[in-house]
Amino acid sequence: MNASAPRRVEHQQTDKGYVPVYTTAVVEQPWSSYSRTDHETWATLFERQREVLKGRACREFIENQQRFGMTPDAIPRFDELNAVLAKATGWELVGVEGLLPELTFFDHLANRRFPVTWWIRKPEQIDYIAEPDLFHDLFGHVPLLLNPVFADYMQAYGRGGVKAHGIGAQALVNLTRLYWYTVEFGLIRQDGALRIYGSGIVSSKGESIHCLESAAPNRIGFDLARIMRTRYRIDTYQKTYFVIDSFDQLIDATRPDFTPLYAELAAQESVPAGDVLASDRVFQRGSGEGWAQDGDV
Ligand code: PHE
Ligand code: FE
Repeated sequence: MNASAPRRVEHQQTDKGYVPVYTTAVVEQPWSSYSRTDHETWATLFERQREVLKGRACREFIENQQRFGMTPDAIPRFDELNAVLAKATGWELVGVEGLLPELTFFDHLANRRFPVTWWIRKPEQIDYIAEPDLFHDLFGHVPLLLNPVFADYMQAYGRGGVKAHGIGAQALVNLTRLYWYTVEFGLIRQDGALRIYGSGIVSSKGESIHCLESAAPNRIGFDLARIMRTRYRIDTYQKTYFVIDSFDQLIDATRPDFTPLYAELAAQESVPAGDVLASDRVFQRGSGEGWAQDGDV
């Protein structure tokens, strides 16, 4: 966000008070209006994360990010990234103002369009920003769209989202947890070690280190139904990370029709974010140190 190209966020009065209403429109990336500070923020974050992710991010993330030729010199142009994506997996980045209504978001993914927030955080938000900005979306999400299996998973997720939207609110809650614990906060096992693939992690210096090196969180093997029951954190590091063995595992496990699964899950209690169950395949049981006692979403 910068002065020359302000975000237009309107507010609407509801029974929860005033809530922001983001425009759902696709917007052209206003590249020439990025300020010097914007480009510097990109450079700082880019260089820092490239360093932090060495030996921490999974192979596919690092390799594919390099294929885009992103550099610290300037905020990348969506057009240039799109030329690479179009040839590789047929995905297309579209600029947006920020978070989208669920159905709009699912529809984009179902059509292999990935919405990218066009504005970048302010310098004082380098370490933490609550909502997704350009750095999170571009640096975090876009590299894996070059991986054919992950690219298909994202589209399948979008189609599944459109379907879940028609089923009801609880189905959407279950499906959102899957996105959270895979696309945003997923870990993968490679060469016997844990590596990061989740975008919410790779775009955060603190969580990149925490998720692999801290004794606090649980690290548990991927289990579809278990994940879809598990609550999560939006304001602290995760209490639990779920570990896949491969992207094939992810796409294979999510291929079946979820309709009967939603029905089963509707009869079950949700699992608190930090709980470990007897049925879990535990890589590490977290010490729970520093955990907030309430606030799971
Ligand atoms: N197979 C899921 C369904 O029928 C769709 C889906 C695929 C959901 C991949 C998430 C991830 O709803
Ligand atoms: Fe995200």
